[in-house]
Amino acid sequence: MSANVTVRHRCRVCDSHRLYSFLDLGEMPPANAFLDKPSGQESFPLEAVVCEDCDHVQLRHTVDPELLFGEYHYFSSASAPMSEHFDAYADAVDDRYLDTDPFVVEIGSNDGVLLSQFPDRVGVLGVEPAANVAEAARERGVETLVEFFGSDVGARIRDNYGRADAILANNVVGHIDDLHGLMTGVDTLLASQGVFVVEVPYLVDTVANNQFDQIYHEHLSYFSVRSFQRLAEQFDMRVVDVERQSVHGGTIRVHIQRQAAGRSPTRMVRDLETLELALGLDGREAYDEFAHRVDRTRTGITKLFDRLKTGDVTIVGYGATAKGNVLLNYCDIGPETLAYILDTTPAKQGTYSPGMHVPVREPAVFYEDPPEYAVLLAWNYRDAILRNEAEREFRKAGGQFVLPIPAVDII
Ligand code: SAH
Ligand code: TMP
Ligand code: ZN
Repeated sequence: MSANVTVRHRCRVCDSHRLYSFLDLGEMPPANAFLDKPSGQESFPLEAVVCEDCDHVQLRHTVDPELLFGEYHYFSSASAPMSEHFDAYADAVDDRYLDTDPFVVEIGSNDGVLLSQFPDRVGVLGVEPAANVAEAARERGVETLVEFFGSDVGARIRDNYGRADAILANNVVGHIDDLHGLMTGVDTLLASQGVFVVEVPYLVDTVANNQFDQIYHEHLSYFSVRSFQRLAEQFDMRVVDVERQSVHGGTIRVHIQRQAAGRSPTRMVRDLETLELALGLDGREAYDEFAHRVDRTRTGITKLFDRLKTGDVTIVGYGATAKGNVLLNYCDIGPETLAYILDTTPAKQGTYSPGMHVPVREPAVFYEDPPEYAVLLAWNYRDAILRNEAEREFRKAGGQFVLPIPAVDII
């Protein structure tokens, strides 16, 4: 096998070797590896397994993080709904946890969109390995270390800046292969009454809503509340609260503190634990059924495109999302079907999608010469996109959106 990928034989949370494989999406290139020109790219296996001891869902393979995050094309601030989400998020953390002279560290701080929302009295530091993205954060005035967070970086930050009152990590904990190294770093850096706040896509939403396109090489873990409980307890910490949110198709915000801080878990923590067990996420069957639905979805998507293509119509992709690239690769949809994918991120415009080589264009192309169909690859922003004035005009003029997830639909 390639030197750029390793196979896991043990669970990332509990170290068990009892990993049950339930979904194989085939080989494909990394979902954010947009290309300057259509050319060959290394593909890696994409196989999901569940640990039969602690029920943590994860990928069998780990692609070298330097390859995935050395240069990165995802800028959080490119999606307006996420900027709004992070604005409210900063206020919530400030109100609930920060006092005088607070210090906040963010892991995977990307272009600084969250940290820049904190008021001036809050000291902030970002940790972001993608140099091109970290540069954008610095331009926003957010001090950023270009590093992969782990136990050593946690210790260095504590020595140079002091302990953190809050450590934030959004849509990044699933990206980290060594979860014990992450937690050791958090343990070293976190103040005694401090909080570690994590947002991740919620396994319950991923499975219940057929979101197989959330599964890609960057996402090594698919968390339940129970996964976090199991991880936290190994570091004398506990999950003290959880909030369910609609961003990215269903996310949980998990609040973790030291057991010694003395907070007891809220009712929501217990309720979600109960829900996860009621849905059978501690057994094989729920995952086998999910895999069947994924297979049927591919058939549905392929049939719909075959039908649409028989007419003299133009079909485009809306949103050059990582998840969209999983869907296109898994369903084998390329430039013979999609004329282009439009995206608001300048760094993606003019590139070609990984694997399928669909050109990525700026949104103006779409507005100036509207196609008949737009496949909503950014289905997680469905409501915000459909509310836009220009998209309302597109539909009024007869254009239609194809929604691939949770089930194929034309809207
Ligand atoms: N937190 C942002 C970005 C999520 S994308 C948001 O929610 O929108 C994941 C980010 O984590 C990328 O910018 C990636 O470069 C970064 N990342 C990946 N591995 C990391 C690690 N070990 N430590 C810190 N950041 C990491
Ligand atoms: P995400 O689903 O991983 O957040 O990626 C969203 C991508 O979609 C990102 O590249 C920005 C793009 N996008 C648009 O092109 N138009 C939009 O209206 C929104 C919300 C996002
Ligand atoms: Zn396990």
